[in-house]
Amino acid sequence: MALDEFLVELDGLTDSATESLNAALDVDSLEAVRIDLLGAKSGRLKALQKGLAAIDSAEKPVAGKRFNEAKQKIEAAYAAAKERLTFAVAQQSAAGFDPTEPGCKPILGHLHPITQTIEELKDIFARLGFSVADGPEIEDERHNFEALNIARSHPARDPLDNFYLQTATKSAGAERSEWLLRSQTSTVQIRVMDETPPPVRIVSLGRVYRPDTADATHYPMFHQIEGLLVDTDVTMADLKSVLRMFCSSYLGEDVHVRFRPSFFPFTEPSVEVDMRWQDGWIEMGGAGMVDPNVFEAVGYDPEKVTGFAFGLGVERLCARRYGITDIREFFKNDVRFLHQF
Ligand code: PHE
Repeated sequence: MALDEFLVELDGLTDSATESLNAALDVDSLEAVRIDLLGAKSGRLKALQKGLAAIDSAEKPVAGKRFNEAKQKIEAAYAAAKERLTFAVAQQSAAGFDPTEPGCKPILGHLHPITQTIEELKDIFARLGFSVADGPEIEDERHNFEALNIARSHPARDPLDNFYLQTATKSAGAERSEWLLRSQTSTVQIRVMDETPPPVRIVSLGRVYRPDTADATHYPMFHQIEGLLVDTDVTMADLKSVLRMFCSSYLGEDVHVRFRPSFFPFTEPSVEVDMRWQDGWIEMGGAGMVDPNVFEAVGYDPEKVTGFAFGLGVERLCARRYGITDIREFFKNDVRFLHQF
């Protein structure tokens, strides 16, 4: 090979080599370029070096010197590129952010099954013309008992059956405080009627508290949905139709509703409401026609208005629909359970 030819090839290689080394974008592509240029077996520099042998011996020293210079230049360009790219990687991990990594999908939660049920029940009753009323969870005895026709001697007021908030001991004996965690959402009936003249058509959903030992069907805190409709000429037939329509909206057309005679101080007559759906009866709560004494307590004229009221367990409705057999599941906060809703 003639010296001229060799030098032209050498210059061409040096130029293209520095160009591709400078252009390498990451450590991997730099390594590919290195093998192509400087690879010990079949690198392009090695191939050119073999051409040295064919050069006239007189011109060999010049060719050899130029070859070594070119090799050093390419090696230096390689070292610079390597430093540039490893520095970039170090900087990225120092900042804790690598834009080339695949993203992590954040885990999103959702509403608790009881909250979902409450929303759905509100929705069904809104379609039946009921608006939503709220009441406090800490109540006084008038709203929880007295105005609801529950006399002082009634066992429902027993301190063992309620969470009274304070008890002041007097020399004559223990005296109950006025305040307690409400044991039923019927308190909201009183609050609404105290504030608004008839007609009334509300539901109220919220927590109630009773000192029950937790088991598969009891928990010291649970949720109720209370309904109250007051107008002229309201009858038991209206109560039955509303509850029937509600049940078939929530559970499906194949639900059966059964009313059993019962007693509540604030309704007369009173019933227990049972539902049968997919071969199982379940007791959903109580209902009845508003007792005239309740109307009197809130200043309504029992000769002019009539009404019905009901109170159903929210956990029971939700559990019945999803086949949940232990109410405690709702409050364990086990995400394996909660994720299923
Ligand atoms: N408050 C009653 C209970 O908690 C249920 C009920 C509500 C009964 C309204 C009649 C009317 O058991």
